[in-house]
Amino acid sequence: MLGGVILMWMMLGWVPMAESAIGVNWGTVSFHKLKPSTVVDLLKDNKIPKVKLFEADPDVLKALMGSGIQVMVGIPNEMLALLSSSPVSADLWVRHNVSAYMGKGGADIRYVAVGNEPFLTSYNGQYQNMVMPAIQNLQQSLVKANLASYIKLVVPCNADAYESSLPSQGAFRPELTQIMTQLVQFLNSNGAPFMVNIYPFLSLYDNGDFPQDYAFFEGTTHPVTDGNNVYSNAFDGNYDTLVAALGKLGYGQMPIVIGEIGWPSDGAIGANITAAKVFNQGLITHVLSNKGTPLRPDAPPMDIYIFSLLDEGAKSTLPGSFERHWGIFSFDGQAKYPLNLGLGNKELKNAKNVEYLPSRWCVASPSTDSQNVANHMRIACSVADCTTLNYGGSCNGIGEKGNISYAFNSYYQLQMQDSRSCNFDGLGMITFRDPSVGDCRFLVGVTDKGSDSSGSQILCQWWVIAAFLIIQMIFSL
Ligand SMILES: *[C@@H]1O[C@H](CO)[C@@H](O)[C@H](O)[C@H]1NC(C)=O
Ligand SMILES: *[C@@H]1O[C@H](CO)[C@@H](O)[C@H](O)[C@H]1NC(C)=O
Ligand SMILES: *[C@@H]1O[C@H](CO)[C@@H](O)[C@H](O)[C@H]1NC(C)=O
Repeated sequence: MLGGVILMWMMLGWVPMAESAIGVNWGTVSFHKLKPSTVVDLLKDNKIPKVKLFEADPDVLKALMGSGIQVMVGIPNEMLALLSSSPVSADLWVRHNVSAYMGKGGADIRYVAVGNEPFLTSYNGQYQNMVMPAIQNLQQSLVKANLASYIKLVVPCNADAYESSLPSQGAFRPELTQIMTQLVQFLNSNGAPFMVNIYPFLSLYDNGDFPQDYAFFEGTTHPVTDGNNVYSNAFDGNYDTLVAALGKLGYGQMPIVIGEIGWPSDGAIGANITAAKVFNQGLITHVLSNKGTPLRPDAPPMDIYIFSLLDEGAKSTLPGSFERHWGIFSFDGQAKYPLNLGLGNKELKNAKNVEYLPSRWCVASPSTDSQNVANHMRIACSVADCTTLNYGGSCNGIGEKGNISYAFNSYYQLQMQDSRSCNFDGLGMITFRDPSVGDCRFLVGVTDKGSDSSGSQILCQWWVIAAFLIIQMIFSL
């Protein structure tokens, strides 16, 4: 019956309108990593169909095998020099990091992201000329591996690759015109989308004049009027600037995927739980409404990958203290706020079976006087994460003693609760009472040490024995 209906549609030339797929970025720059299998279960419980990775971590790819989740594997910028200059290295990369995981019961790798924002202005062109040669080499490697029709190469571009005050006037940065022309020709000939990362939060954070409500999707008192088109949110404006830039190169219809988009929840003014929830929910509702944008009505982005799945407490804070707080889940897989991803669950579901360290914390002992402690605190916070203490952060108001305790605890958890790491020349002490105050959470670390493989080995042996016994039973009947 259904087959007949579909056949009829096909005969009438009717193609069902594609809805945007929602995926997530899974970065692993964390001091307290969850077991990859725990994260894959988290993805499955939340019905998340697509995941984007920043590298080819073997444990992560193994955990994704057989999950049915579509995977984008990333290649870090640092590898571009090698891959652009050596076809053999590209072959090896594909064999080692893609082919090895594919096949029946394997990982469903659909995309390889070549570099990560390689055209960022702050790189001063360092990676610019490596991108196309790396792509050519990798494409040849995919062809040789018989994967070129299944796996598409893409380049996640930063939004500063193009510019304009009005969306309809959008154009790529002049020095990128040639590379972008080659890139979109390549993408087009392979049926691959253009991938871009869009961050209204950064526009707001970097620019005091940026109208706050324009960053969100709730309507604005500062719309951007562009001819007959009126833009009420930064996302649509930015997206159409890219559409116009692609149009200038003759590819105004090229499909667009949003490689990263999201809002941080801590560590800076404007980065908080409420704003993150309002932005992410507004974005998902907006995209899934299929309204599209003024330059692409009824055609929303092909896919959007939320940045990010989990907080990554070991990331560089160079962009700002918020950088460690982009997750819709905290580092340990707990939902920060209710969010409907439009994938079937009304709210996010937390990670299950998280293996925490014991419930204990390191705090400043009552006698600690703040004179001697500054150096300890500085060292603790230079290795562990103290970003929530900063102005605008969730722990900013906990007082001087609170600050010290927070720093001590972060360090102690980072050292996997090694009791020596709570000494601080006698200024620290271990407590079994949770020192968290209000929204300020004193973390307990997690461990990924209970290895997945030994677990499945035990399971396997158990099953072998059980199966053996059952067979014996059947034959003895
Ligand atoms: C596979 O990817 C990893 C991580 O991205 C990288 O370190 C490694 O060198 C790659 N393997 C090959 C053979 O290129
Ligand atoms: C959260 O951030 C938004 C903007 O990003 C801001 O308007 C709001 O005041 C912040 N809320 C708190 C409680 O800081
Ligand atoms: C706690 O530390 C933060 C970050 O360094 C600082 O902004 C704040 O003023 C400190 N609080 C006290 C009471 O010293």
